[in-house]
Amino acid sequence: METYSEDTRNILGLKLPTDPRWVNLAEIQLAEILTDHAYCEQKAATTCISLIQKNPEKEKLVEELSPIVTEEWGHFRMVLAELKKRKLPLGKQRKDVYVNKLLEFQKKGGSPTERFLDQMLIMALIEARSCERFKRLSENLDDSYMRKFYRKFMESEAGHYTLFITLAEHYMDKKTVRKRWAEWLAYEKDVMNSQELRGDRIH
Ligand SMILES: [Fe+2]
Ligand SMILES: [Fe+2]
Repeated sequence: METYSEDTRNILGLKLPTDPRWVNLAEIQLAEILTDHAYCEQKAATTCISLIQKNPEKEKLVEELSPIVTEEWGHFRMVLAELKKRKLPLGKQRKDVYVNKLLEFQKKGGSPTERFLDQMLIMALIEARSCERFKRLSENLDDSYMRKFYRKFMESEAGHYTLFITLAEHYMDKKTVRKRWAEWLAYEKDVMNSQELRGDRIH
C-alpha cells in the first residue's frame, strides 16, 4: 500500500470504520460472505458496462472503465472458484440493502452533470467501503490463506474508488466533486449506522 496516497490509505475519508466484531461474524458465515461477494463483483462489472453504454461520448470514461469490467468479472470468477473449491453453490442473489439505501441519496431530477457526478460518487463509495471491509478481513481473519485472498481484492478496489473520483474530476471542477463527496460520506455514515451488523454481507 506504500504507493497509495494518504487519502487512499484513509479510505478517502469514510466516516465510520467497520465494527471489529463484523470480522468474527463474517468468519463463521464464510459461505454467505462468498456468495454475497460474488454478486458484488458481478454488479460492479455490469454497472461499469452500463456506465459505458450511457456515456459513449465520454472517451476517458469508456477507455478507463473497459478494463475495469474485465477486472471485476475476473474477481467474480475468483470468488466462484473459491466457492467451487469448497463445494459450495453460488447461491442466490440477496437484496442489497446497503446499495439500495445509497441509491436513495442520488439527486433525482438534477441536471445530467449532477446525475453523472452522483453515479461516479456512488461507485467510488461502494468501492471504498468494499475496500475497507476487505482490509478488515485481510488483517483479522484467522485463516492465513483467506487473509491473502482478501488482500488481493482490497488492493484492487483501492484503485477503483480513486478511479471513479478521478473520472468525476475529469468532467467537472474539483471543488464541486469534493463538496458532493463530503455529502455522500456523511450520508454513508448514517446508512452504516442504521444497518444491523450482520456477518453474511460484505456491506
Ligand atoms: Fe472487484
Ligand atoms: Fe471494484
